[in-house]
Amino acid sequence: MKVVRSDWSRALLVCGKCSKKLDGGFGPKGRESLAKALRRHLGLEKGRRAAMGVIEVKCLGICPKRAVTVIDADDPHAWRLVDEGADLDAVVETLGLIRR
Ligand code: FES
Repeated sequence: MKVVRSDWSRALLVCGKCSKKLDGGFGPKGRESLAKALRRHLGLEKGRRAAMGVIEVKCLGICPKRAVTVIDADDPHAWRLVDEGADLDAVVETLGLIRR
């Protein structure tokens, strides 16, 4: 099996379908997806050279109303439902993420 190196120290899986249903839901105008808003908030690049992975995945089967399902790969036993427009500082603190 081949190995592809990554610089990620952590990975967050964010439901892209939840974000699509909210037509974004985050960012200054409420039009940005949670994954994109979090990456911007944390100063992260996209891709495997970023310090942390914040990636959109397909529907995770929870489908909350006016929220986005998030899985922290470090804590897969507790999936998070982030309310539309939630304060990103609070999200970062709750998930114990480090701002760069
Ligand atoms: S639409 Fe996001 S969990 Fe189903």
